[in-house]
Amino acid sequence: MRVLGIETSCDETAVCLIEAGGDFGTNFKFDVLGNALYSQAKLHEQYGGVFPNLAKREHAKNLVPLLSQIISDGGKTEFDEQQLHELVHREPELFEQLVTFFATHGRPEIDCIAVTHGPGLEPCLWVGVNFAKALSIAWNIPIVAVDHMEGHIMLSAMQGDRLSAFEFPLLSLLISGGHTELVLSKEFHMYEVVGKTRDDAAGEAFDKVARLLGLPYPGGPEISRLAAEARVKNQEPKIKLPRPMLREDNLDFSFSGLKTAVRKIVDANPNLELDDKVLLAREFEDSVADVLVEKTLRAVDQFGANTVVVGGGVSANEHIRLRLAEALAKEGNIAQLLIPPPELATDNAIMIALAGYFRALENEFTNVAELSAQGNLTLSH
Ligand code: KG4
Ligand code: ZN
Repeated sequence: MRVLGIETSCDETAVCLIEAGGDFGTNFKFDVLGNALYSQAKLHEQYGGVFPNLAKREHAKNLVPLLSQIISDGGKTEFDEQQLHELVHREPELFEQLVTFFATHGRPEIDCIAVTHGPGLEPCLWVGVNFAKALSIAWNIPIVAVDHMEGHIMLSAMQGDRLSAFEFPLLSLLISGGHTELVLSKEFHMYEVVGKTRDDAAGEAFDKVARLLGLPYPGGPEISRLAAEARVKNQEPKIKLPRPMLREDNLDFSFSGLKTAVRKIVDANPNLELDDKVLLAREFEDSVADVLVEKTLRAVDQFGANTVVVGGGVSANEHIRLRLAEALAKEGNIAQLLIPPPELATDNAIMIALAGYFRALENEFTNVAELSAQGNLTLSH
């Protein structure tokens, strides 16, 4: 089955084409036939985070050029101009580009379109959803609406071009710019959120703390770089930051207090030297890692998880990867750790195409007229 993946939930515009076969087991295999991604991170740097309206415009501007990179030209597509206009009239540039694209591209060999419909920034999600609808109608290809978080889980469950061999119950630690949650899957496609952040997401905390330290967006890689410097030089933090909710008997997280603690230090010391920032970055990263590791271990224990999947942008963090691996390798812990290669940890379209493929296998196609963006979508049964 050939699946076109589309992702626009945040500040990455991404499309890809995969060829996949087999069911959710050892016979599954996929190939990436085309993959195009445009990261808007540099554009949002001046805002210290993603500016939704700018992100939405950028998605609208970049989707067709990215699609042209993965679909070969030739032929043409007949389409109803009025219907197309109704669908994407809020994005005039997207409309114009689609008209031009259809004039030089016929219907490609694609069996299914997988598009992120949530969670994420709703104006951004709508651009991807309407783009998918336009292609679906013009080419008569069914759509599968994908939960972005399921995409992270599915991608993390892969090993190269196949599925990792693992056993349920599966516990997913999802750590991204918008989410921090522990999700239990007793079986395939079943989800129960067993812990989540009460305020900021882990990635959001990295981004906000980076901003406080005068580092560019996205903050995760920047903090991580400074923290690694401190570790290489064996510099121990002078200041102790809190480990929020570590002692509380639940699986929830909270990161806004940690950010406030950093803010207080920065306010009290307006002329922090680079050396001080390096130490602070290390202590911050240690604090986040301590909490993530402890709560994950607790959940593994509580639910008897055989597998831990880590996904989302923060799972690119080298120190957090290492700490989780160490903790799960300790004697007595039998859970297997599945973590994506760092370059696939952040948002991309492959994860959406993969999640879409498994939904398509179960004939979970969407009624195109009813498909909508759902910013607050949560994983459930
Ligand atoms: O999954 P993702 O690409 O987008 C969302 O769905 O939110 O995650 C983006 C988040 C950002 O907050 C970014 O700072 C963080 O992931 N991130 C990292 C690292 N790389 C990206 N956080 C910590 N360490 C990293 N190396
Ligand atoms: Zn994500």
